[in-house]
Amino acid sequence: MKPIVIAIDGTSASGKSTNAKLVARALGYAYVDTGAMYRTLAWHCQRNNIDVDDAKAVAAACRRWKTELECVEKSGLRAVRLLVNGCFPEKEIRTAEVSAAVPRVAAVPQVRRWMVGRQRECLEFGHLVMEGRDIGTNVFPETEFKFYLDAGLEERSRRRAADGVRENLAARDQRDSQRAVAPLMVPLGAKVINNSNLTAEQTSGLILKEIRSRLPREKIAEK
Ligand code: DC
Repeated sequence: MKPIVIAIDGTSASGKSTNAKLVARALGYAYVDTGAMYRTLAWHCQRNNIDVDDAKAVAAACRRWKTELECVEKSGLRAVRLLVNGCFPEKEIRTAEVSAAVPRVAAVPQVRRWMVGRQRECLEFGHLVMEGRDIGTNVFPETEFKFYLDAGLEERSRRRAADGVRENLAARDQRDSQRAVAPLMVPLGAKVINNSNLTAEQTSGLILKEIRSRLPREKIAEK
């Protein structure tokens, strides 16, 4: 049986993580945060004094770093993580420094190719809910389940601030949308959800309703 992939793309702080986790929990699918994979490389470069604006050096680091994928279950959620030297730097990758560096790392073509390879390997963990910027366009363009989340800039900045993070979201979105390789865009056939005025439950409810209307019952391991 071919695993199903639910692709959730969108702008920064548009609620991708919250909603992807809610959907993955509800369906019993494995959750994959691809942003965390790019963040881990940005963190790894910073830690090893590799200039993130030096594309050649970043590509070399990506070729050489020692990584593996694992799937762990925590509070009813199966989540896939990329380990570097056997560790997942969960907190370290959420700093303002890493957020500023990550679009630079993510713009390097060799890095994107490497990441797409690992992201496709996640199918070994079964049905997936994968969130990112290019999942529906580039990683799994063939999936029929594509969602694109967005919200007004003010609302997104408010959400980030509520998480205790101050950052220039507009600048990051601009970098992510304007890079030459796999820029952030609405995937063809994606259902676009602007959730400025919706709660996470309402947003994930819309996503689940759409999936359930199209998915055979046996592929939903409802909890
Ligand atoms: O979702 P996030 O904020 O953790 O993502 C961090 C950065 O990684 C974001 O600025 C763009 C990049 N990214 C990407 O280019 N492609 C993905 N599939 C996921 C993230």
